[in-house]
Amino acid sequence: MGEGNSRPHVAVTRRLPDPVQSRMAAQFDAELNPQDRRLDRGDLVALMQRSDVLVPALSDRIDADLLAEAGPRLKLIANYGAGVDHINVAAAAERGIHVTNTPGVLTEDTADMTMALIIAVTRRLTEGLAVMQAGQWDGWSPNAFLGGRIGGRKLGILGMGRIGQAVARRAAAFGMEVHYHNRTRLPADCEAKLGLTWWDSLDQMLARTDVISVHVAHTPATFHLLSARRLKLLKPSAVVINTSRGEVIDENALTRMLRAGEIAGAGLDVYEHGHEANPRLRNLSNVVLLPHMGSATVEGRIEMGEKVIRNIAAYAAGETPPDLIQP
Ligand code: DGY
Repeated sequence: MGEGNSRPHVAVTRRLPDPVQSRMAAQFDAELNPQDRRLDRGDLVALMQRSDVLVPALSDRIDADLLAEAGPRLKLIANYGAGVDHINVAAAAERGIHVTNTPGVLTEDTADMTMALIIAVTRRLTEGLAVMQAGQWDGWSPNAFLGGRIGGRKLGILGMGRIGQAVARRAAAFGMEVHYHNRTRLPADCEAKLGLTWWDSLDQMLARTDVISVHVAHTPATFHLLSARRLKLLKPSAVVINTSRGEVIDENALTRMLRAGEIAGAGLDVYEHGHEANPRLRNLSNVVLLPHMGSATVEGRIEMGEKVIRNIAAYAAGETPPDLIQP
């Protein structure tokens, strides 16, 4: 890192939890956004030009063109979030700008939400909810709202990083048979502890599992990893869950197959085109859609802020920030 600057000018693009904002204001020369005003590209460029540190979130697209206009002052982009696919990290590095993120603190919350989606889709939770909310329940019936049993189902986890492993632990506790595909295989004792089955071939895992849950980051290599061809490998009874990034799944193909009954259901927290879910996914009884709330807990958001502060403080002290992303 550079020389350090004990009270760097830190520009924050979104309103953060109050305790985080207070600590930032106390520790740094912080320019906050307490009204959560939407910033356009012009606003972002101006912020970057007058700041040592930018704290963006995934709603800000920090691409090469924007970085080209950042000017010489900006030295650190301390992202408020784990995923950095909205930041061109290589272009930042070329300009001597470091990028950090907030790994680890979203793991358990996102894994909880993944399980919630698996259960909601498999046990038809939203269908029951809709009937109750509409006051249309006419009493218990042996055949009403029959879903599938969670225990014994085969879960295929795509991507076995921190969140994939946290999902595996939960799924194993629910009695699911956990399979995974990952570039690197976990150590044998890890696999044995959770009874994990590793698949070298993603295609083969897809064809054999009942629920497929996405936990890879979005990179050029993972874009449409679940392509139309791969989605066709799934059993018609399969359910697709995504709490990672929408771009990993060909959303149009998934939508077509869900509507045609070629895939049984989906639980989605993220979408290929940011916050615009394919409108043809709405109102499908076999689909549960959430507004990217996998990590949305009060505790998690504060811990994310604490990580951001630690990263900036390390930069300010001339040290390597703990969560520095390697370009
Ligand atoms: C992240 O931090 O990347 C998450 O997706 C936000 O929930």
